[in-house]
Amino acid sequence: MKLFDVYPLFNITPIKAKGCNVWDSNGKKYLDLYGGHAVISIGHSHPHYVEKISDQLSKIGFYSNSVQNPLQTELAEKLGEISGCNDYQFFLCNSGAEANENAIKLASFVTGKKKFISYKKGFHGRTSAAVALTDNPKIIAPVNETANSIILPFNDIETTEKALSKGDVAAIIVEGIQGIGGINIPKKGFLNKLKALTEKYECLLILDEIQSGYGRSGRFFAFQYSNVKPDLITMAKGMGNGFPVGGVLIQPEIKPWYGMLGTTFGGNHLACAAGIAVLDVIQKESLVANSEMVGNYLMQKLGEISSDYEIRGKGLMIGLEFKFPIKELRQKLLFEFGIFTGVSGQNIIRLLPPLNLTINEADQFLKAFEKVYADISAVLNEH
Ligand SMILES: Cc1ncc(COP(=O)(O)O)c(C=O)c1O
Repeated sequence: MKLFDVYPLFNITPIKAKGCNVWDSNGKKYLDLYGGHAVISIGHSHPHYVEKISDQLSKIGFYSNSVQNPLQTELAEKLGEISGCNDYQFFLCNSGAEANENAIKLASFVTGKKKFISYKKGFHGRTSAAVALTDNPKIIAPVNETANSIILPFNDIETTEKALSKGDVAAIIVEGIQGIGGINIPKKGFLNKLKALTEKYECLLILDEIQSGYGRSGRFFAFQYSNVKPDLITMAKGMGNGFPVGGVLIQPEIKPWYGMLGTTFGGNHLACAAGIAVLDVIQKESLVANSEMVGNYLMQKLGEISSDYEIRGKGLMIGLEFKFPIKELRQKLLFEFGIFTGVSGQNIIRLLPPLNLTINEADQFLKAFEKVYADISAVLNEH
């Protein structure tokens, strides 16, 4: 049987990984500044993570959500403590899209309303409600098209208030920092103004922290650069360091009822063991602070190399927007220097490394980048 060919693939086969490094089937070593799409938070194959999951698997890997699972409570308590969101309730699921789908559903249940606001260049996943709020018509199938979805200019309070004033919006969903759209940071005060508007028009604020959460931005959640208190917070990616785990934090006034949400696999023993191990390591190795420190270092040094590209970011969520398409730059980094990076559109490189990236590893990237950038700029200037 053939695979359904939806992914353009690099001809690289990783077979081993450790910390911020990956090795391919030819034994070539890579530096991972992509984190498998912002997923690797504590570093590849961290010994504590491997031990926790292996140990759990040898005891019990899965049972259903119809029995007690103390690992879910342990994960919730640790997450509450480390994120500073202790007063929220926690629903566990399996992916980012599923987290958003559940948050959207909750907001609709709670408000009794159907419409949702999201923003241009936003990405919220590929399931039906989440994709309808994603600013990419190519991935919205006819069945996902809905008048319930209102996609507005990012950072624009005026159009948001106008749309809310009709009174039929259940929630606004916004990323803590837009990831796939190219690392776009909410303007100062934007999230607070959104929260005030949601209170005025009796709807909810959903913060999609699926990419920007779990320490990536140098805060546990990127929205914590402001003092806003979202009604719902969604997370996935870094939460399981590669094990598929997602979750929704739900503000305390929202009351659950049996059957309101549900999932077969969400919150299973193995997923919880992975999630607990991730939080143990984030705490023990101060990875949120490391993300801020190494991220600031990278952005400062990148700024010193040239002022000809725009640098946007917080912590280890960094976008570099060039005046030329970055395909060649990215390929040279990967094939000549063995450095994985991410992309957004034609002109933006995204850096999303594991949160334990060291200054030495950052320097390794900077050295390679400076060389590749100088070579490409020289050729471009000749023409
Ligand atoms: C901000 C954001 N929301 C939602 C998703 C969807 O997550 P998943 O691919 O786990 O469904 C992503 C994935 O890239 C994302 O970046």
